[in-house]
Amino acid sequence: MIDYDRYDRIRAVQWQGNALFLLDQRRLPLEEIMLECRDAHAVAAAIANLTVRGAPAIGIAAAYGVVLAAKAHADADGRVASAAIGSELEALRASRPTAVNLFWALDRMQAVVEHEGNVAALEAAAIQIERDDLAANRCMGSLGAALIAPGSGVLTHCNTGSLATAGFGTALGVIRAGVAEGRIARVFHTETRPWLQGTRLTAWELLKDGIPAQLIADSAAAHLMSSGQVQWVVVGADRIAANGDTANKIGTLQLAVLARYFGLRLMVVAPWSTVDMRTTSGCDIHIELRDPEELLQYGSVRVAAAGVRAWNPVFDVTPQALIDAMVTERGVIEQPDATAMHRHLAAAKP
Ligand code: MRU
Repeated sequence: MIDYDRYDRIRAVQWQGNALFLLDQRRLPLEEIMLECRDAHAVAAAIANLTVRGAPAIGIAAAYGVVLAAKAHADADGRVASAAIGSELEALRASRPTAVNLFWALDRMQAVVEHEGNVAALEAAAIQIERDDLAANRCMGSLGAALIAPGSGVLTHCNTGSLATAGFGTALGVIRAGVAEGRIARVFHTETRPWLQGTRLTAWELLKDGIPAQLIADSAAAHLMSSGQVQWVVVGADRIAANGDTANKIGTLQLAVLARYFGLRLMVVAPWSTVDMRTTSGCDIHIELRDPEELLQYGSVRVAAAGVRAWNPVFDVTPQALIDAMVTERGVIEQPDATAMHRHLAAAKP
């Protein structure tokens, strides 16, 4: 049994009835500041500027954004029409392109607007999305940890913890569970250039839990793998296509290629809300390009000479053939491919 009081204490997205409070991830770990969003446009801006980030967390934040929009446009009986919140829905949909959880959550909320059309039902739906995500993470933590042999070392990338989800985390949830169960003996995490989700966020979460871990430069991954200290690479996902191809933070693909070369195993951990069965393969996933300025600086300090140009894709796609295990709250899919994904979908349908 995992001690969640120790391993699940951080809440980055907090709904307080009339406002959404977001732990500002641009400022962590040096400052712990909650940003208050009182309307949907503020939520959309917070998603776009990475105040809140991580696929499940942006879906949850967007769902509460819809509640704020509905509250602003409801009639005296709390009823709201889809057309009345059109500009807010559009802004939320346009906030980031790659993580499908955002669109999944907005589709769910839009269905509630169309079928029930009242603020109370929307608020209940958003709270349910958040609760389901936390339950999924705790379930995936146990399923994923069970795949890891005692005494193993793991490497993770980006931040997939409480900050990126409703709580506990996806890949970081597996690491939390694996450490709690005594299976994982060594934890390494990358810095995750250029935005430093690893250096700033994953390190902070692990430190808060008292989990010993070591940060590596992104470019140290091959050397680490060749040293025999890690047996698994454990990562999250932003969108998983119907054939198992997986979009995740830029750099995941090179870790996957290296893992195969060095004989390590790759585990992708994500709730079913990250699976997009309407996207046939990874080729069809829209990869977000962000401001080159993010790459020309280290943190907020400019390091490249004036005039240097940069290309800044922030996700990449790992082909399913490089994935050994995909863990969702519906179960474990070994060697995910189109057949296995469709079989899993059919078997796990409620
Ligand atoms: O750009 P970010 O920080 O939103 O990217 C986050 C990731 O790529 C995570 O690995 C992914 O969203 C899974 S989080 C549980």
